[in-house]
Amino acid sequence: MNIAVGADHGGYSLKDAVMDEVKKQGHTVIDCGAKLYDATDDYPDFARAVGLKVQSGEAERGIVVCGSGVGAAIAATKMVGVRACLCHDTYSARQGVEHDNMNVLALGARIIGDELARELVRAFVNAKFNTDPRFQRRLDKVLKIEKDKS
Ligand code: RB5
Repeated sequence: MNIAVGADHGGYSLKDAVMDEVKKQGHTVIDCGAKLYDATDDYPDFARAVGLKVQSGEAERGIVVCGSGVGAAIAATKMVGVRACLCHDTYSARQGVEHDNMNVLALGARIIGDELARELVRAFVNAKFNTDPRFQRRLDKVLKIEKDKS
């Protein structure tokens, strides 16, 4: 699976560990930056870059990192077809995919350390959407909300 990864300056310290863990799990990283630490960069730019990869299908999933994970999650999930959520527990990182077809994981580098981030990445990338009719029905309702833009 191709997984797009993006981080602003607040998430930069976690980015290498996230990308390394994605590769260790047998997946390919699409690096959406930041390639260098820049204290003046803005999280929506990286969330958008990751979201565009997911929208185009070049990446099946994405991971966005900022200081708290909140801004990156908000920005990414504004994009059509992107279902992003901030998950700092492994249950949510796994179940978010299994039940809700979450396709972008948001992390906060000022909140968690490398080892928990690696566990969260493992939970996220190894989970698969459960196509049981009740989960598909709920996903369809979510997609309808997105389509109606109400
Ligand atoms: C950047 O200072 C910080 O605001 C950003 O990384 C993120 O935490 C926003 O939610």
